[in-house]
Amino acid sequence: MTTPDDADFPPDAFEKWDAADDSDFYVQPRFVTHIDDRAIAALTSFYRETLPTGGVVLDLMSSWVSHLPSDVSYAEVIGHGMNEAELAANPRLGRRFVLDLNRNPRLPLCDSSVDAAMISVSIQYLQQPVAVLCEVARILKPCQPLVISFSNRCFPTKAVAIWQALDDSGHAHLVALYLRRAGFADIETRTLCDGRASVSGNSATY
Ligand SMILES: C[S@@+](CC[C@H](N)C(=O)[O-])C[C@H]1O[C@@H](n2cnc3c(N)ncnc32)[C@H](O)[C@@H]1O
Repeated sequence: MTTPDDADFPPDAFEKWDAADDSDFYVQPRFVTHIDDRAIAALTSFYRETLPTGGVVLDLMSSWVSHLPSDVSYAEVIGHGMNEAELAANPRLGRRFVLDLNRNPRLPLCDSSVDAAMISVSIQYLQQPVAVLCEVARILKPCQPLVISFSNRCFPTKAVAIWQALDDSGHAHLVALYLRRAGFADIETRTLCDGRASVSGNSATY
């Protein structure tokens, strides 16, 4: 299951309580939001200052919402996720694809073809996170940003064991470690919203 870059984490680090195929879990669309309104507003504001206006943006592990600022135009927003109906309902997406990254981390996108990428409240579900982030690095143009956000909520049966074992601060360090291993630089961690259901973000450039 692991690639060399993911291999030297503790044994069982990327096991999940629910080891069934992820496509079973995501077969039904969920038209819900996974963080509260204040956290969404904080994330949207962070996207406004971080993602390049007019650029091609990849929303990896997306759903029916991308949390992008409604008054900012992008050349294209490419959405990836596990449920076709959720992605089809997302008004920001110009292109979309469904792919189980725990089965196949290879992204069907060309090298250096994207101006920015984001992974919103989903990194905890990846069983080969470094392999996936290496792919993000491959498809990003040089020196362009990746924003990974996460909160204190998750689907516990689907989050990997190492995520379950850590607190908020540990999550930030873990995501920074994934990014370093995938070759990202200028890694920054920010708390975007204080209080319950806060969202933290690691941004980095490749
Ligand atoms: C909590 S939702 C977050 C959705 C969206 N990014 C948001 O901010 O509302 C988690 C998302 O992770 C994605 N996901 C979970 N497991 C996955 C897997 N094995 N491969 C690819 N994507 C996965 C699904 O698309 C799912 O919608």
